[in-house]
Order: sequence, then C-alpha cells, then structure tokens
Amino acid sequence: MRSRAHISSHPIHPMLVSLPIGLWIGAFVFSLIGYLTDRSLLNAAGFYTLIAGCVGAALAAVPGVIDLFTVVPDRSSARSRGYIHGSVNIVALFLFLYAAARQGSPFDAPDQTVLIVEFLGICCIGYSGWLGGTLAYRNQIGVEHLYANAGKLKERTVDGFERPVCNQSELADGQAMLVHIGGERIAVARCSEGIFAFSDRCTHKGGPLSDGAIVGCAVQCPWHGSQFDIRNGRVIAGPAEDHLKTYAIEITAGEVYIRRQPSIPDRKAA
Ligand code: FES
Repeated sequence: MRSRAHISSHPIHPMLVSLPIGLWIGAFVFSLIGYLTDRSLLNAAGFYTLIAGCVGAALAAVPGVIDLFTVVPDRSSARSRGYIHGSVNIVALFLFLYAAARQGSPFDAPDQTVLIVEFLGICCIGYSGWLGGTLAYRNQIGVEHLYANAGKLKERTVDGFERPVCNQSELADGQAMLVHIGGERIAVARCSEGIFAFSDRCTHKGGPLSDGAIVGCAVQCPWHGSQFDIRNGRVIAGPAEDHLKTYAIEITAGEVYIRRQPSIPDRKAA
C-alpha cells in the first residue's frame, strides 16, 4: 500500500534507514581498527559516526512509525512484524547509546565492551533489516499499485454508515476503494456485475484486499495470492480457508451506501 510518509510517491523511511545502517557499521569498523592500532583519530571517527548513526536512526523512525500505524493493516501479520522490527531497532539504538556513553568522548579509546555492544547492535539492525525486507518485498508496504489506465487506489474515511462512501461513477470496472468506516476497513470494488463491498482484511493473515488485483468478480490478495469472489466472499483459491465478510450495497441517486450489518457472516470454505 502507498506510503503515507513519502516525497512524490517515494517512501521516506527506506531512504533514511541507510543512515544508521551505514554509520553504525562504519562506527564499529573505525572503533575496531582504532582499538587494534591505538590510533586516536580512528577512535574519534568511531565515536562521531556512532552518534551520527543514533541521530539517523531517530530520523528514520519518524516515517517508519507513520507508515506502521497508518498503512500497515491492523490485526495482520505485517503489523506484528512491524512491531518486532521497531522494537529491535529501539534495542539497537540503546545499545549504541550505551556504547557511546561507555566510550565517553571522542578523545577516549573504546574498550572491548564497546566493541561487543556495537557488534550486538549491528546484529540487531541486520535482523531488523531482514524483517524490513519482508515488509517491503512480501507485504508490499510502501508499494503503490496502479489500476488499468493508471487509476490509483482511492482511500476515504466516512463518518458513519448513513453517509455515502462514493458516487458509483468514481469506480471503474476492476477498480477498488478502501473505506474506513465505523472502525472497519471495507473494500468497495466494481466488477462487470456491479459494485460490491467486502472486508478489506484477508482471512489468511490480514492482507489488504483493496490493494489486490480485481480480475472479473474476484479479488486476489497481494500478500500470498488467496482469491475470493467479491460477490459473496467465497474462497476461490487459498491459502485462505475462511470466506470473506461481505456487505450489502445500496445505491441511491448514484451515491453508494454500505449497510452496517455484514450480508454474510464469517464462515469456513466448504
Ligand atoms: S494474507 Fe495471505 S493470502 Fe492474504
């Protein structure tokens, strides 16, 4: 899903994470060589790059937190992964802050403890980077998908179920819209048989279906490929096993309304 913290559609978080990764690894290398060769210049370089890495980490965290809480669907495997990713980064930040405090100043030499703590910090950012890669390349957080004719995913927050979510002319065939309404994420999509509403939350691991592909009257989850019939929520293809919650639609004077109660309750695939 498209990043909220972006510059001209380019997510900011991936741009900034290179700062702590590069600076902290550089700090460890400077400190290690400084320790082995007893060169004060390298000790100072290690200290300054360590501090700069901490500043970079704090900067990178801001867009990361924005995307975690506004883009990553709640109650999904990606949200859990994002929490672990952020927590491990915080641990890394504290490890490097501790290393800086232990070294004391750029004029002091790092001891073995500083080197060990910095190495542990690098292990943390390595693991965190692996999780971040999964978030970007499998969960597609920050990826902006386009529909045919370069249509973009529409997203809207509606005050209540008594309000229209859109005008029927806003959705082209094969296009979806994500609606935040009554604390729920509901996808509204048009196929050749009309406009349908269904839970945005894939029943497998919570993937955002509004970000998936609408082919015919089926939606394919962008995370692991499960397919659902958007007319009735039935599973066409797994790994999802549970059918999708669907909602009734009412169209009055061209305005599209979602009925509050799901038209079909949660159920297992036959
Ligand atoms: S989250 Fe796995 S297929 Fe949708």
